[in-house]
Amino acid sequence: MPMLPHMVKLTVDDSTPGVMADDQLKQYRDSHKEPHVLTTSNGAPIYTKTAVMTAGKRGPMLMQDIVYMDEMAHFDRERIPERVVHAKGGGAHGYFEKKDFPEWKLFIQVMTFEQAEKWEMNPFDVTKVWPHGDYPLIEVGKMVLNRNPKNYFAEIEQSAFCPAHVVPGIEFSPDKMLQGRLFSYTDTHYHRLGPNYIQLPVNCPYRSRAHNTQRDGFMTIDSQEDAPNYFPNSFNGYRTRDDVKETSFSLVGDVDRYETRDEHNYEQPRQFWEKVLKEDERDRLVQNFTSSLAPCYEQIQQAMIKIFSNVHPDFGNARTMPNDPSDNQLKNYKATYPKPQVITTSNGAPIYTKTAVLTAGRRGPMLMQDVVYMDEMAHFDRERIPERVVHAKGAGAHGYFEVTHDISKYCKADIFNKIGKQTPLLIRFSTVGGESGSADTARDPRGFAIKFYTEEGNWDLVGNNTPIFFIRDPIHFPNFIHTQKRNPQTHLKDVNAMFDFWLHRPEALHQVMFLFSDRGLPDGYRHMNGYGSHTFKMVNKEGKPVYCKFHFKPTQGVKNLTVEQAGRLASEDPDYSIRDLFNAIEKGDFPVWKMFIQVMTFEQAEKWEFNPFDVTKVWPHGDYPLIEVGKMVLNRNPRNYFAEVEQSAFCPAHIVPGIEFSPDKMLQGRVFSYTDTHFHRLGPNYIQLPVNCPYRSRAHNTQRDGSMAYDNQQHAPNYFPNSFNYGKTRSDVKDTVFQTVGDVDRYETGDDHNYEQPRQFWEKVLDTGARERMCQNFAGALGGCHDFIVSGMLDHFTKVHPDFGARVKAIIQSQTRSHI
Ligand code: HEM
Repeated sequence: MPMLPHMVKLTVDDSTPGVMADDQLKQYRDSHKEPHVLTTSNGAPIYTKTAVMTAGKRGPMLMQDIVYMDEMAHFDRERIPERVVHAKGGGAHGYFEKKDFPEWKLFIQVMTFEQAEKWEMNPFDVTKVWPHGDYPLIEVGKMVLNRNPKNYFAEIEQSAFCPAHVVPGIEFSPDKMLQGRLFSYTDTHYHRLGPNYIQLPVNCPYRSRAHNTQRDGFMTIDSQEDAPNYFPNSFNGYRTRDDVKETSFSLVGDVDRYETRDEHNYEQPRQFWEKVLKEDERDRLVQNFTSSLAPCYEQIQQAMIKIFSNVHPDFGNARTMPNDPSDNQLKNYKATYPKPQVITTSNGAPIYTKTAVLTAGRRGPMLMQDVVYMDEMAHFDRERIPERVVHAKGAGAHGYFEVTHDISKYCKADIFNKIGKQTPLLIRFSTVGGESGSADTARDPRGFAIKFYTEEGNWDLVGNNTPIFFIRDPIHFPNFIHTQKRNPQTHLKDVNAMFDFWLHRPEALHQVMFLFSDRGLPDGYRHMNGYGSHTFKMVNKEGKPVYCKFHFKPTQGVKNLTVEQAGRLASEDPDYSIRDLFNAIEKGDFPVWKMFIQVMTFEQAEKWEFNPFDVTKVWPHGDYPLIEVGKMVLNRNPRNYFAEVEQSAFCPAHIVPGIEFSPDKMLQGRVFSYTDTHFHRLGPNYIQLPVNCPYRSRAHNTQRDGSMAYDNQQHAPNYFPNSFNYGKTRSDVKDTVFQTVGDVDRYETGDDHNYEQPRQFWEKVLDTGARERMCQNFAGALGGCHDFIVSGMLDHFTKVHPDFGARVKAIIQSQTRSHI
């Protein structure tokens, strides 16, 4: 979903956006006059990609919809772990397209072994430079960048650089850092890309070819034909080359861990301060340090000032600032644990030092048997898991739900069975389209996912801060999200793709208008509504079902940011919403929401002019009033973000007796996708993790094994039925029976009442000021789009209301495009 810049600058070019990178899609169209017929991933042509297969126009989805499954299951696995460091990268697309090729000259510095012996510093210490006066630059050649990647993921995200990849003529010095890196990179590539990462086109040594005995493993492409997979052999398999033998060097020294803490730490920084920096650069350096140190504890500030003063007495200045609770996490730890634990390896063995690797001599190379290093580094190499394919950035909190009103006439769910009953919960708020490092204040819907740990299983209500959604057929989801994320070639957000999709799917207008109105920029996570969004079914003890929707309203009130505030916060505090939530809870200012439901009987559903299972529509509150149910209180911050929030796995398929699915196609489509992506992101036993497990009811089933299984249900049989007292079922939790009559087909929903509710939003919900701000936001964002996209969107706006189309058009005309 959109992570739009708050204000996109209007460009002056009347037919195309100003930057070459924005033209990527147009260039594709120019070079491909005829579209390809769409296929499944196994190459079979398909009839439509805009409707899923249902039993009847408003009936449930069919398992045999392999077009949907094929699309969604790939989408669920689109993200791989980001690099554990240096995660964000890329080239300057527009720059290259203008043929203004960037160029660098390559120089080397050379030091003989004799000079190395004599130099006062350690030539293998990467915190030191070699003075250019003594070791002058020798020019070697130039590097020119003249071609952009065609696909960012294949060529950049999957590229794998490794200091161990050297060629005859280049060898390693005993620089400990270099030695340590030799292990870590390939190790992390195996985690991030798999054992055959080096066979990918971008990584493979295509100008020499690999001839070795490595075979098989996930995603093998090049199995080196029928060559033997062992060496030595008698079948002309391989030979070696004498001229590429590594140089030998003699090594004498005690194998030990040599501390390097006090080795010439201040001399070169002093030279940098005195001789390299100019007066104004020094001022800026001090300012930068001062502002970075401002939130630190005084003890840390003072220690850093002392270090700066050691470099140079003039360089040492910092101020103290009051700390937020979120800044005090480490101090709190120290208060709870006054004495440190002895540090250990991961297998629990105490260690002697964690500040020096094991080398042969003080300046010698590292030893393979340094298991303290290996243990630390190999885990670090695997610290990142794939981020969520959507909703990657978020914040979580623990709390409880308390029933304040009796709704047992509608619902038998255990969570609602008594006034005053409290049920523990976990919530995760999120933005949708950005990566895990993106700004919290982007114009984007907000996720509002709750996991209720009920006594009859975990119930996940995985909603948003809006009662509606952009699409109503789940087949669109991966494609829609592709337009909201980065362009696959330029790796930039592509505003043309975003609006192009909306141009084709006017059912999105309702949600798009919400998004571009004031409510598109919520002030943190505490001041926004939450919704289950879909139509669900509630069933009472007598087995009578009704349709229902869920609403949450914050007791602390709804607040939105202005465009200017959001823009400023995006640069000053990109983690604004996470910080706000954490600090409020830590200060005891617990956020509270009231929960309401709307109820629609089956008879009302039959008669309603709209499709009650269409998630692009709201149910009018006049006809379907809010019924109060209870309150949600957030009163505890997670102790570890990764374990409790990153690893949390919410899924619309996690329901409990009393809550069932309506035939809302989007809900039906989601029921498959979430667990599927959890298996990819967290593994087959993700639900055994403490944060995900149904700890108040416990799982009793026949699932066993799989990686990282730790609850194997003791010695119970792993099949059902059986004769050994394992497993019985409960007749009172049978799903309600419902009739479905209809042809199994793919029903297009493109023209299903697209403009009526957006018109009501314009006419009845927004006041004059809010309408004007929304039009300004639209005009700003459309400023980056091609003419035909602007005209198409203006047509849609005019169909919503003539004043809406006219106002956006007038703003665009007055700013840049008079011909529109
Ligand atoms: C066909 C439609 C949809 C599909 C296929 C889909 C798929 C996904 C996937 C794959 C994830 C990542 C889950 C994870 O890695 O844990 C996700 C997250 C999420 N989705 Fe959807 N989604 C759809 C529609 C919606 C709608 C309509 C809503 C809200 C009403 C929604 C709300 C969320 C939320 C809140 C999260 C983040 C959950 C968390 O915090 O872990 N999604 N979605």
